[in-house]
Amino acid sequence: MASLIVLNWKLYPSLSDVLVLAPQIKNMAALTRNAEIVICPPAAFLHPLFEEIRHQTESLKLGAQDISAFPEGAMTGDVGVGTVKPWAKYVIVGHSERRRHYQESDQLVSEKAKLALLNRITPIICVGEAQKAAAARSFVKDELEKSLVLLSPKERQEVVIAYEPSWAIGSTEAAPIEYAQEMLKVLKEVLPASVRVLYGGTVTEENSQQFLMAGFDGLLIGRASLKINSLKKILGF
Ligand code: PGA
Repeated sequence: MASLIVLNWKLYPSLSDVLVLAPQIKNMAALTRNAEIVICPPAAFLHPLFEEIRHQTESLKLGAQDISAFPEGAMTGDVGVGTVKPWAKYVIVGHSERRRHYQESDQLVSEKAKLALLNRITPIICVGEAQKAAAARSFVKDELEKSLVLLSPKERQEVVIAYEPSWAIGSTEAAPIEYAQEMLKVLKEVLPASVRVLYGGTVTEENSQQFLMAGFDGLLIGRASLKINSLKKILGF
């Protein structure tokens, strides 16, 4: 099965950066056989990016970085599911930056995931412990179960999970492979067999293959996803 490679561009790129990166990634996607690439740009760039890549939909898709838990209404500043729906096939929910800076709870993450699924958008639900500690396994298992709480058994088969220990995000070191593999095992015990689990947190051209070889179904990449040379190596070019 092709690896799912999610590019989380966060609040980093300008529109001109996006328009420079898009054709290069489109070319890579056209040549790759073993990866499905999902670009998650800032929400306002979904449409211009879609226009850039529209003839490359098989192996290259777009995702939103977040959505409001409210389907519509008086919610100034929120990005609604209906706003991203024309362009996005995926949406990241529960990223640790949202959980930490905006106090997003597991319940809210579950609401967002449910709303995405109702709109035929695949939620990429992020879970991960804040500290490398003995209790990390039970923390992550509990966070996963609570983030899935509103989903039916059928809906649970349709999500993607990203294991991202927040201490490894935006850091200089990714999680050690054996450690991440142990967490993967914990998550897979809770999840239906078909659910893909990604690794995220300081993925680089040096470590990306190791996570895939350790059994992760893909990667959620932040900083390295904006560097075209790193991305090329990660995708095996
Ligand atoms: P990073 O970000 O690769 O820059 O650590 C990953 C993420 O936050 O998804």
